[in-house]
Amino acid sequence: MSQFTYNNGVMHAEGVSLSAIAEQYGTPTYVYSKAQLLANFDSYADACAGRDALVCYAMKANSNLAVLDLLARRGAGFDIVSGGELLRVLAAGGDPAKVIFSGVGKTVDEMRLALTHGILCFNVESIPELHRLNEVAASMGKVARVSLRVNPNVDAKTHPYIATGLKANKFGVAFDDALDTYRAAAKLANLEVAGIDCHIGSQLLDDAPLLEALDRLIELIDALGAEGIHLHHLDLGGGLGIDYGDEEDSAPVPVGDYLGRVFKRIDGWRAERHGGKPIKVIFEPGRSIVGNTGVLLTRVEFIKNGEEKNFCIVDAAMNDMARPALYQAWMDMQPVVQADTGAATYDVVGPVCESGDWLARDRALSVQAGDLLAMKTAGAYGMTMASNYNTRGRAAELIVDGEQVHLVRRRENPADLFALESLIK
Ligand code: LLP
Repeated sequence: MSQFTYNNGVMHAEGVSLSAIAEQYGTPTYVYSKAQLLANFDSYADACAGRDALVCYAMKANSNLAVLDLLARRGAGFDIVSGGELLRVLAAGGDPAKVIFSGVGKTVDEMRLALTHGILCFNVESIPELHRLNEVAASMGKVARVSLRVNPNVDAKTHPYIATGLKANKFGVAFDDALDTYRAAAKLANLEVAGIDCHIGSQLLDDAPLLEALDRLIELIDALGAEGIHLHHLDLGGGLGIDYGDEEDSAPVPVGDYLGRVFKRIDGWRAERHGGKPIKVIFEPGRSIVGNTGVLLTRVEFIKNGEEKNFCIVDAAMNDMARPALYQAWMDMQPVVQADTGAATYDVVGPVCESGDWLARDRALSVQAGDLLAMKTAGAYGMTMASNYNTRGRAAELIVDGEQVHLVRRRENPADLFALESLIK
């Protein structure tokens, strides 16, 4: 059940009306539901119950400290892609022993930081990265646990910008080079070969490509075992899609079904070909943990009726939510107060000086200046991709818990935006 529903004609986040929130905190504002966040995490945790499995939340989707803290307390690990993200995990009280570090361009400093804090594993994406990590670990007198991100060359059938498992992508080690790369890694004294991972793309509605990728990883684990290289874990990445409310994206596979199929395959393989030996399974979900936990609340500034189009100009923009501008993503836009007057068709746009600054196109809305709109399913890749373009302060973030509202990031003010700049002396 959604935590964003109408009550007496007004959209609420859990027990609090979004009109009251806008009144008190202003707009644009991201509003998250704590209950939805925990329910989403629990759908993974429940499917993993009783198994040697770890859910490492891909925090690039939403890295607010309060979100991380709630998930950490629920037992989540974290998938990070920068030293900055590791520092966020630590600031939120997360356990570095449950952190995996992904990404194609880890710097020496980031490797050092992660080794200092004893993270669970580095997901390595190239041979030069293996050598760099080995050297950094040696200089610190440590051994780094590594997994190789293998590119299984599976078509995730998603938007080209968020498909990552094809040969033409910059990510991972090519499937055909994987064995050689593992052999190279096994020879490096300050590395411990611990796992294998992949991530084939994001917003996948069907789990068939994910299961195909799993089969390919299993093939490699068998081949490595035959050479005496035994892995401790298998990491399937993230990628499960969510329902954005449009027709195309309406039926993602439920988390429990997907994980059930993964474990069934793994159990079958372990029994038949892996001598019953254990293997830890790791998932890196981002969007499916936070996507439907948030809305972006915005107020209509002006209605502008043009010759060809009607524009609904709101106070949120592409700098607050980049997905429509970047991926032509369809995001649901609903009035906070339901009206039964006749609707017209609008493009909902922001005030930024770019034609690409739109949030929704060709939507039937019954709106006037001063009304509130809620962009639904905005909890993932919203605030984390926000910028200060046009010297616009980033939105406030709130978490609603029942009847309570917590401000978890205050709105940026203009002084914040130029605080780090200086004039030439
Ligand atoms: N693991 C790795 C290595 C990743 O690169 C990603 C996402 C994830 C896990 C989490 O994937 P998820 O479960 O969220 O699909 N900004 C885009 C999405 C970019 C995804 C990047 N990698 C968007 O707004 O659609």
